[in-house]
Amino acid sequence: MSENTFNDNNKSEFLHDEVYESIPPNYDLINHLFTGGMDILWRKKAAKETVASRPEKILDICCGTGDLSISVAKLAAKDAKVTGLDFSRPMLDVAVKKAQKAGYDITFVTGDIADIPFPSDSFDSMCIGFGFRNLTYKNELSAQYISEILRVLKPSGRFVIVESSQPAPDAKIIKFFHRLFVKYVVSFLGRIISGNSAAYKYLAESAVNYYGAEELRDLLLQSGFAKVTFKRLFFGAAAIHVAEK
Ligand SMILES: C[S@@+](CC[C@H](N)C(=O)[O-])C[C@H]1O[C@@H](n2cnc3c(N)ncnc32)[C@H](O)[C@@H]1O
Repeated sequence: MSENTFNDNNKSEFLHDEVYESIPPNYDLINHLFTGGMDILWRKKAAKETVASRPEKILDICCGTGDLSISVAKLAAKDAKVTGLDFSRPMLDVAVKKAQKAGYDITFVTGDIADIPFPSDSFDSMCIGFGFRNLTYKNELSAQYISEILRVLKPSGRFVIVESSQPAPDAKIIKFFHRLFVKYVVSFLGRIISGNSAAYKYLAESAVNYYGAEELRDLLLQSGFAKVTFKRLFFGAAAIHVAEK
């Protein structure tokens, strides 16, 4: 497979998913704007966790425009093989260019997490940056996605999730302002800047109602992971979970 190019296997009906077909031009900018640039730091932290076990084969799922894949490639051992997987072609177009510019040999693959185009027990580490909510929030395929992730992860492999989260249950004031910000500011500004009101309405609705850190830990344990730890980021606006198979 040539570097920084597409392996176009496993096309699915989701390939032309409307939401992600129209976001790419402003996608990165909007992310940085909404988090005050903290998403960059959060991906770096997640990348550090992903390579902590010295993996040789790493898969970044829902890799989008490739920022987490590149962060991982920067920190991984020189001979480690990093792959990014996403079903959105426009997102991967941006990822390929970014990886080339940054000088990293990353393979980007088009495919659906519902049917990951790799054999069982393929990867030492896997990660996902701000995509797990898409896979598990009110999503009827949620169990299938998690079971596919478990299938391609090697025994004892780690799966690192960086995702928006909820302030700790007892932090009532922070919770109030967090809800206000996500519900109104994110959907309003996202619509104005991207022109895609459906995408940012979904983002705001799902972010406000998504699992808290403890709930996500419990979901992962119930789904078959052997051990799960987590760290809250910025008062719980986001969290990093490390799940071991
Ligand atoms: C919010 S973006 C996150 C992108 C990137 N990981 C980041 O850190 O910015 C979510 C990504 O998940 C992808 N995605 C959502 N559902 C998917 C699925 N079932 N299979 C493959 N990719 C999916 C979308 O195309 C999109 O690129």
